[in-house]
Amino acid sequence: MQPRFTLSADLQCSREPSGEAVAALERAVAEANDTLFVKGVPKGVPREEVGRITSWSVGGTTLHLVLESGGYTRAHDALFRFRKHLAGVLGKHQVGIREILVTRFAVVLTGDVPDSAIPRLPFIRSVERRSGTVTLDLAVSAADLEHRIPDRILNLVEEKIQAREYGGKTEHWELVYESGPKERVYQGNPTEEMEARHWIRHGASRGQWIYGPQAVQLFRAFQSIVEERILGPLGFSEMVFPKVDTWDVLSRSGHAKGVYPEIYYVCTPKTRDPAFWEDVSDHFKVTGEVPVDLVREKVDGPIGALCYAQCPSFWPFVQGRTLAQGTLPVRIFDRSGTSHRYESGGIHGIERVDEFHRIELVWLGTAAQTGEMAEQLHQVYRGVFEEVLELEWRSARVTPWFMAQEGMVGACGCETVGTTDYEAFLPYSGTWLEFQNVSVNGDKYPKGFNVKIQSGEPCWSGCSGIGLERWTAAFLAQKGFDPARWPEGVASRVGELKEIFRFL
Ligand code: SER
Ligand code: ZN
Repeated sequence: MQPRFTLSADLQCSREPSGEAVAALERAVAEANDTLFVKGVPKGVPREEVGRITSWSVGGTTLHLVLESGGYTRAHDALFRFRKHLAGVLGKHQVGIREILVTRFAVVLTGDVPDSAIPRLPFIRSVERRSGTVTLDLAVSAADLEHRIPDRILNLVEEKIQAREYGGKTEHWELVYESGPKERVYQGNPTEEMEARHWIRHGASRGQWIYGPQAVQLFRAFQSIVEERILGPLGFSEMVFPKVDTWDVLSRSGHAKGVYPEIYYVCTPKTRDPAFWEDVSDHFKVTGEVPVDLVREKVDGPIGALCYAQCPSFWPFVQGRTLAQGTLPVRIFDRSGTSHRYESGGIHGIERVDEFHRIELVWLGTAAQTGEMAEQLHQVYRGVFEEVLELEWRSARVTPWFMAQEGMVGACGCETVGTTDYEAFLPYSGTWLEFQNVSVNGDKYPKGFNVKIQSGEPCWSGCSGIGLERWTAAFLAQKGFDPARWPEGVASRVGELKEIFRFL
């Protein structure tokens, strides 16, 4: 996909250039074409690939310019280089440059560019196809050009073409470890049995459960195992992360690239004034129904999403800061609330839900420290699943979670950065359930939130999400509902199951 750029711009001068100033301008154009625009371009690149001013004229106080380029010193880059140069040249003649008006910006692409690869954005005024080329006529201001909007549009077209190519591929999955089969003592579906025993009941919302005392006894037992075997020994400290993620957080985390079909959106009232809301209240009082359309008119936002990935909302705590050497690796965790995902199609029992509970571990340090912490976690997790929960489980390298959540598939192509999923076998369905993960996220988060470490080495981070619903589903699916047959480490922590509710 070879781009060619044509840019017409009017530079408004503070006053009409004199004859001498115009002569200086002429020399400046020649100099720009001969040297200024060629600076930094690798040798051997054909001249027509490099930006040049192909025509110019002065009319009153306006300097009209036309620039053309291929991929090197793109027309818009050339324009700004020239403006800087020109400021000095014209300044000598007491002429200043006031503003730049972009009158035309066209990008011609050659090669196979399907319609589906061209984004629908207001910046793209028209798309014209001729034999073998596509011309994009862009509606862009000088500020847009300085923000490199054309380059970003082209990167996006490229990304969409690639997405089509890997569209047929599935997510990456590569086995790391397998525990081997364990004795099968139970074949039932744990959600159905928990419901029948009144341990859980559907909440009023989609993909939401209300967990009764017995289910929570299991949650707490798992939490205490995690505390004793993982958080304590590895030195993780508890924090409380926010549960509303603003667009700023989601932009920095990368989620803003593609998470839209899966988030729960958060809105705020347009005002707190009760009078503004009185008609809504009155409507409900008279009809017994909430007038949702009316409510929609009275809210602002959405301002962001309900907690989705759990770790992103931590990062503003360290944003823009440098971590002192002695504190590394920083190890923290959050278990203060729910995560929310608008799951597709069938919601399956407690293992695929819209609202779930998870302990999220986060660590930061050098690349080596971050990788080392992931290794230690793999070891302690393995200990827990082998010795305490006695699960039939396996682990696999998968598409990194941050890539998956940005809507990409495949491997990330790097040795050390990436996600390992832990999966448990579900005898009742014969399938494997992902119940937690461990990820080394590289410098993605420190970069996005501008976090540094004292030594000046790149800061890296990792995270690990422990899903309580998923642990419960995996455990009960394999071990059944008779505590006498549960592994001692779980049974003793759960204690006697509480029968708080009995129904007639
Ligand atoms: N933040 C990671 C995820 O959303 C790990 O919990 O998968
Ligand atoms: Zn995370």
